Amino acid sequence: MRFTRCVRHAPLAFFATFFFVGVPGGTAYGQARGDARLAEQVFKNVQSLKGIPADEFMSTMGFFSASLGISCGDCHTADSGGDWAKYADDNDRKRRARGMIAMVNTMNKNFFAGRRVLTCYTCHRGSTSPETTPDLTQFYATLRYREPDRMVNPFPGAPEVEQVLDKYLQAIGGAQKAAALTSFAAKGTFQTYGIPTKYSLELFAKAPAQRTMIVHNLAGGELIDTCDGREAWIVQPPQLAPVPLLERTGGEIDGARLTAALSFPGQIKKLLTQWRVGPPAVVDDRDLTMLQGTINGKFPVNLYFDDESGLLARTVTYADSPVGLAPMQVDYADYRELAGVKIPYKMIVTWLDGRSTIQLTEVHANVPVDASKFARPGH
Ligand code: HEC
Ligand code: HEC
Repeated sequence: MRFTRCVRHAPLAFFATFFFVGVPGGTAYGQARGDARLAEQVFKNVQSLKGIPADEFMSTMGFFSASLGISCGDCHTADSGGDWAKYADDNDRKRRARGMIAMVNTMNKNFFAGRRVLTCYTCHRGSTSPETTPDLTQFYATLRYREPDRMVNPFPGAPEVEQVLDKYLQAIGGAQKAAALTSFAAKGTFQTYGIPTKYSLELFAKAPAQRTMIVHNLAGGELIDTCDGREAWIVQPPQLAPVPLLERTGGEIDGARLTAALSFPGQIKKLLTQWRVGPPAVVDDRDLTMLQGTINGKFPVNLYFDDESGLLARTVTYADSPVGLAPMQVDYADYRELAGVKIPYKMIVTWLDGRSTIQLTEVHANVPVDASKFARPGH
């Protein structure tokens, strides 16, 4: 059941000319960027998932793993572990999965007016063999909190959005102090799910929304996760990903940009539109207030604030894939004061097939950070 790899991204082999599509400050959602290569251009044996950018293809793989509760190697040849080329080989499970993609598309088209309501997860729910008989033990079990994946109706009796955001700004030290924090350079450690080793990391951020994390000596290489304020890339060592540099697209850019922008929380009110307050949530025995908004107008962004401290505890963003939405969750903890502003020294990032923990140990506020730190890696 445990994922053997913490992989989601298949970087691109070559880059074409670099240009923008869409409006300044944003890539039109759902549109492959001009230089984002398509899955079939990057991989050898793509038959069912053509026409999507490579990052979305890898999100789809994460979606499969999470939906069926298996790791990458369980669908790809057992000996594929160290050899990405073998992922192109076909086998019964891969063929079975292709058949399921066709089945799901047909069912959504013919029975649900083309809306993507049926996904792998609808039936599989973390198992290779979907259940067939209602389970009586489920009936009286306590309901678990379901992460909303669409915009919720404003919750009756909830506090005003403004009130929750103002309480947050107050809690971190006030809007004025927050606005005065415009850059930082940090050192810390990075851990990936299932591996006890702590790798050393550097984190750089600059307002309004630039952020770069560099992890050293991870699986014999470097991990570089960069957002330059409008675009985002991830570089991973060969052991962790089939190709070295992956350009993020669509909702993945929005997620990266939000994480970067939240490094400078004074601007929080400007980061989303269609703000509303969602149903109350309890996470790890803490009462949280959920605020929801959107960046791209397509998918929600869920922000959770701790009722007691007022601080931001969690964000959840969504990116698209042909078979369903790929959620990314960031948990924030260990708030400490930096230049009069409380910032989280601990971040846990969870996605469909991996989790990493970032712990900052040393942070320097308002230091100059060279622009090259936020440039597309490899330039
Ligand atoms: C449920 C089965 C399943 C799981 C689990 C799965 N894959 Fe796949 N994978 C497929 C299928 C099916 C294809 C071919 C898709 C197509 O034909 O468009 C594929 C294709 C690929 C390819 C392209 C290979 C090539 O060169 O053609 C890569 C890379 C890949 N998967 C990586 C992964 C990774 C990494 C994971 C784990 C996060 C994963 N897969 C999990 C079914 C699966
Ligand atoms: C409508 C329900 C339903 C949906 C939706 C669905 N499946 Fe399945 N799937 C099943 C059932 C039922 C089985 C087991 C059938 C059996 O026992 O032979 C199965 C079996 C499989 C298997 C074989 C598992 C094994 O034991 O080797 C794979 C792989 C698979 N599904 C992948 C997918 C993927 C990928 C998707 C999404 C694109 C998906 N399924 C969506 C119902 C569904």
